[in-house]
Amino acid sequence: MKKYFYPLIDNPYRPKDIHQAIKVLKSSKITSGPITLEFQNKFSKKIKTNHSLLVNSGSSANLLAMQCLINPYRKKRLKQGDEILIPSLCWSTSLWPIIQSGLKPKFVDVEIQTLNLDLNDLRKKISKKTKGIMLVHVLGNCTNMDELMKIIKKFNLILIEDTCESLGTTYKKKYLGTFGEFSSFSFYSSHQISSGEGGMICCKYEEDFEIIKSLRAHGWSRGLKNEKIIAKNNKQLDKRFIFYNSGFNLRSTDIAASIGLSQFKDLDKFIKARTTNRKLILEIFKNKDKVNNSYNIIKENKNVNPSWFGLPILISKHLERDKIVSNLEKKGVETRPIISGNFLKQPSIKKYKLNKNQKMKNAEYINRKGFFIGLPTKPLGKNKVRKLAKIFEQSI
Ligand SMILES: Cc1ncc(COP(=O)(O)O)c(C=O)c1O
Repeated sequence: MKKYFYPLIDNPYRPKDIHQAIKVLKSSKITSGPITLEFQNKFSKKIKTNHSLLVNSGSSANLLAMQCLINPYRKKRLKQGDEILIPSLCWSTSLWPIIQSGLKPKFVDVEIQTLNLDLNDLRKKISKKTKGIMLVHVLGNCTNMDELMKIIKKFNLILIEDTCESLGTTYKKKYLGTFGEFSSFSFYSSHQISSGEGGMICCKYEEDFEIIKSLRAHGWSRGLKNEKIIAKNNKQLDKRFIFYNSGFNLRSTDIAASIGLSQFKDLDKFIKARTTNRKLILEIFKNKDKVNNSYNIIKENKNVNPSWFGLPILISKHLERDKIVSNLEKKGVETRPIISGNFLKQPSIKKYKLNKNQKMKNAEYINRKGFFIGLPTKPLGKNKVRKLAKIFEQSI
């Protein structure tokens, strides 16, 4: 593997995280158990959400949210063809669970300055068929949540927050992931905290929590609030093996939970360390005219206290992204697109005939001019940032 001077991710696992995982391994109880429950409880308590459930990825969390919305046990379930709005700057598995659940995605553009949902375009896209919004909080930033919640209320929409890239960000002191009925988080290795693979789904209502608990584990009745009643109504079955719902197996393990929990306890420290590194980069880049004029580092939106894990950058209009990215990579700076660029450009969209000549002007611009670099939790130091600035200057 190529060794970068400035990689996207430094090794996120500290000796104390590894120690927790070894403790679980030695206990021989490594499947989902007490540590998973502890992580879920601590997560709910910190971000102030009603219910949290650990899953094996952020993608699984999005899948569970969509599957819950169409589940026959839900009183107000969505039906085939109901419309869900989604920004075209999204991740693959923000989108596909909508389709996998028989619902219809409708794409909305984003704002160039924040990378997040364009509320003017959103208003234009709402129709009688619109039932919900899969909101993607892009790279630790978010849209104007006050305005969005007014729209949600006015049109009686369901809000699902894909918070996979924004754990720890607050809007007017309220954590992202607590505005909607559902939210998803990812603990993949490049994100704010990591458990290798992993994710959390949070929800507001107990009815939904019971459904997703069952969907997460084979459709089992085990661990449900009504487990005893279900057993009583199904006397012909072994009460330990009752399949009450349809299902998947999207559980995680206590090994991943122990690493995730150990990191979660230090979330605020990570945010602070990344903020300090970001400030240093901004300071040093600002003093280099050529760098300052050629690269626009995305800032947080109004009222947002951000939790970054990368530095999203848009290059100036007249510059060519591919050339700059290639130069940066050659000189040891690892880069990647902003999420996956304008998702409407992906071949999977063509295959599923989802792009009916829709033009997403801003997402397209971000696709052509944007990329991001990592933001480590370890202190960068002035010398390293000066060298980084030099590489940025030489890459234009
Ligand atoms: C916006 C967004 N949603 C969902 C996911 C999926 O998360 P995971 O990789 O944990 O499945 C990602 C992954 O990076 C993401 O960026």
